[in-house]
Amino acid sequence: MEGSTFASRLLEAMKHKNMKQIDILRAAENAQIKLGKSHISQYVSGKTVPREGIMSFLADTLGVSVSWLRGGEASSDPKSNFSNQGDIPMRTFQKSSKLEHVLYDVRGPVVEEAARMEAAGTHVLKLNIGNPAPFGFTAPDEVIFDMQSQLTNCEGYSHAKGLFSARKAIMQYMQNKNVPNVSVDDIYTGNGVSELINLSMSALLDTGDEVLIPSPDYPLWTACVTLSGGTAVHYICDEQSDWNPDIADIRRKITSKTKAIVIINPNNPTGALYPREVLQQIVDVAREFGLMIFSDEVYDRLILNGEQHISIASLAPDLFCVTFSGLSKSHMIAGFRVGWMVISGNKRLGRDYMEGLNMLSNMRLCSNVPAQSIVQTALGGYQSVQNYITPGGRVYEQCEYIYKAINDIPGLSAVKPKAGFYIFPKIDVKRFNITDDEQFTFDLLREKKILLISGKGFNWKQPDHFRIVYLPRIEVLEEAVEKMTDFFKYYRQ
Ligand SMILES: Cc1ncc(COP(=O)(O)O)c(C=O)c1O
Repeated sequence: MEGSTFASRLLEAMKHKNMKQIDILRAAENAQIKLGKSHISQYVSGKTVPREGIMSFLADTLGVSVSWLRGGEASSDPKSNFSNQGDIPMRTFQKSSKLEHVLYDVRGPVVEEAARMEAAGTHVLKLNIGNPAPFGFTAPDEVIFDMQSQLTNCEGYSHAKGLFSARKAIMQYMQNKNVPNVSVDDIYTGNGVSELINLSMSALLDTGDEVLIPSPDYPLWTACVTLSGGTAVHYICDEQSDWNPDIADIRRKITSKTKAIVIINPNNPTGALYPREVLQQIVDVAREFGLMIFSDEVYDRLILNGEQHISIASLAPDLFCVTFSGLSKSHMIAGFRVGWMVISGNKRLGRDYMEGLNMLSNMRLCSNVPAQSIVQTALGGYQSVQNYITPGGRVYEQCEYIYKAINDIPGLSAVKPKAGFYIFPKIDVKRFNITDDEQFTFDLLREKKILLISGKGFNWKQPDHFRIVYLPRIEVLEEAVEKMTDFFKYYRQ
């Protein structure tokens, strides 16, 4: 009886605080209180009640009194038990319910735990985020020089879509990639591709609209579809087939509500580069079902094997296409925030949508103008990124190393990346009894001080993958591989 009253109070307080069991576990960890998953699930199911210390911790965390939580005294109005200070009720603030199903683990709870460990003086090897600068990659000199010399001309807002010179350079870049029907007016610059993913989904989606998104994905796509009221429907990219999109799965997942398909090519997290035949099949499906195509090509200048990157928009002159790219990765200037979005193909199909894009673009006034000022410099002339991605170059050699090293660890396997700087290894989950991949990354972090993101963070449904960013130098990757090899010798979940 005591247990069931306590359980219902606990659930009520958790609901009020918008906390889930996992949040309580994390709060306990932060407070260095020993509280296991099984304990908390026994509390909420009313099977057991906690001892005094845990009861106080739960009451503190949930902002209620111990006696109320225990189910004893208290007003019948539970709200009066939440965070009162004297007689003045303190209003607490919850995050928007729109965020309930939004996931962005690339900077999520495991990363927060790593930050806590670092704050406590522990060195953590971070293989979690594709940010080249901290790994010793620097911007081309010309980019820095040209930005410096233009800085005083960049004090005002620009045109909402961006500086003419930047958009002209992007237009020419798209022409060189055979993307049809692009004028300067069809180009929007943004504070990174990120801002434009958000903007493009906000302008498109009504509640219930469906968008096909790859699984695994770069999770901002799913997050922005969800935040915009749409439904992200994940299609499988097939590891057995070089991580190419599974066309049959795409077809199966199309409904009358499907508005668009997103592809990420080259792909984060898998490192895949889609061949022409696969792109053509996606175009055919989009044509058959009247879908818009969104193609995230932020890694299109980071192709490792000398192959050609093909923009899907070049194969779809009769469809409405939106292509995204930027300088964060190819010019190692993620912090400058330079991205763009290009409309191409049959623009008549999206006239009204473009009005929406223009509204949202005007509302944010413009993207960072000093950053736009170097787009022309960056896209023209010699592409210094070539020095990194050809044999002898850092990204190329690091890819070769990590691919081999991962496949040499018993129980791990990986497809060789063709572009970008990520690899997405598979874990033999039976061998290690892994059922929760996030837990695996927590355990690796605590035991070996290595920070990785699990497949779940990329909307991959099975607990059998994780992503490594192979930007660190080979010596550092070697250290990580050594520690992982040791970890997988004993780890069982
Ligand atoms: C596939 C993909 N798209 C977009 C972005 C965001 O890039 P930006 O720095 O241009 O916002 C990233 C960043 O990692 C990415 O991997």
